[in-house]
Amino acid sequence: MLVPVILSGGAGTRLWPVSRSAYPKPFMRMGDGESLLKKTLDRALRCADDGTVLTVTGRDYYFLTRDEYAQHDGANLDTLPFLLEPAGRNTAPAVVLAALHARDRVGADATLLILPADHLIRDLDAFVADARRAAALAQDGWLVTFGIRPTHPETGFGYIRMGAAIERSMDDASPHPPSGHLLPQAGEGKAALGRVVNAFVEKPNLQTAESYVASGDYVWNSGMFCFRADALLAVAAAVCPDVLAAAEACHAHAMNHESPIEFHREAFLAQPDISIDYAIMERAPKVAVVPATFDWSDIGSWKAMSDLEAEADDQGNRVRGQAIVVESTNCYIQSDARMVAAVGVQDLVIVDTGDAVLVSHRERAQQVKLVVERLRATN
Ligand code: GDD
Ligand code: MG
Repeated sequence: MLVPVILSGGAGTRLWPVSRSAYPKPFMRMGDGESLLKKTLDRALRCADDGTVLTVTGRDYYFLTRDEYAQHDGANLDTLPFLLEPAGRNTAPAVVLAALHARDRVGADATLLILPADHLIRDLDAFVADARRAAALAQDGWLVTFGIRPTHPETGFGYIRMGAAIERSMDDASPHPPSGHLLPQAGEGKAALGRVVNAFVEKPNLQTAESYVASGDYVWNSGMFCFRADALLAVAAAVCPDVLAAAEACHAHAMNHESPIEFHREAFLAQPDISIDYAIMERAPKVAVVPATFDWSDIGSWKAMSDLEAEADDQGNRVRGQAIVVESTNCYIQSDARMVAAVGVQDLVIVDTGDAVLVSHRERAQQVKLVVERLRATN
């Protein structure tokens, strides 16, 4: 059974002042008025075999998250269990706890589809088709990643070197063939489900990233994964027994076993703070990649946001909300309520939220996180 797991954590500080610790990136609304979180639930429900979608998030976001979910027409809150974290411990503990929960409540052969809550994907049909491919691979014990063709040498992502194609070994009609068969070459066989991962490199430096992009052999790791709960737990036992042991202790002594599931703070904080990429994916022996046929964006900064939102005018300006732009080029302006006017400026990002205004150079948008650091230090 395929059970999507929504991971929602982290503050998304580069999208200040819209994304804040009280109202982080998954709650951010896109131009169509829908939050990234609601869009993620929509994606998850399209893949969920029986409507069950697990959410792992901070306990402070529980009610806000339920409110978002309740706005989805197809959502039944009774089949949307929550695991609530007393504090962030990064993605490895979150995923291992989800796998332990699924093992006990759904079955050891439950297939988990890990979905970060802050990605934007528009082609949902292609996404569902790729998720089905990944689920078929997961049935054979692969830990599956989704690869995105890189457009630039981004250093904030993980990179995957793709190897041989993995072909569907049974007839094409079977959604879950029992075993994958490796082809000697990375061909584009009609029935190929994905490719073997030859190397997984989390966040390389710029020079390395440039060589990866130039080689054409690498894709970005999207941060979405698919695996059977038992396969993930077996790999964790081998490559990060400390993460597994700490999660098991936390799981065994959870305060309750019905949603929302909460954990004892001390046991939870005893888990190592490490991402699934470093703890598991880099070290796992049997990792596959499904090259994505869908569009994907991790909206990491206002620059990325401005490229996605709204049509540009003939001077390259994009506006969301109230703004007048005069003799300016290549600016992004977003304003919830107040009128913003820009005259004779270039390459600016201007975001007005009523109680805070951001003005940044487009190419310096990554450094907005420094503003948040400064705010935290002074508050
Ligand atoms: N529940 C929970 N708890 N979720 C978390 C936590 C946590 O402690 N920490 C992070 N998350 C969620 C984030 O909200 C995000 O949706 C997702 O897990 C990934 O975490 P990030 O912190 O955004 O990871 P990253 O951007 O550094 O790197 C990952 O994503 C890249 C693509 O966006 C890696 O998987 C990279 O390899 C990948 O390229
Ligand atoms: Mg991220």
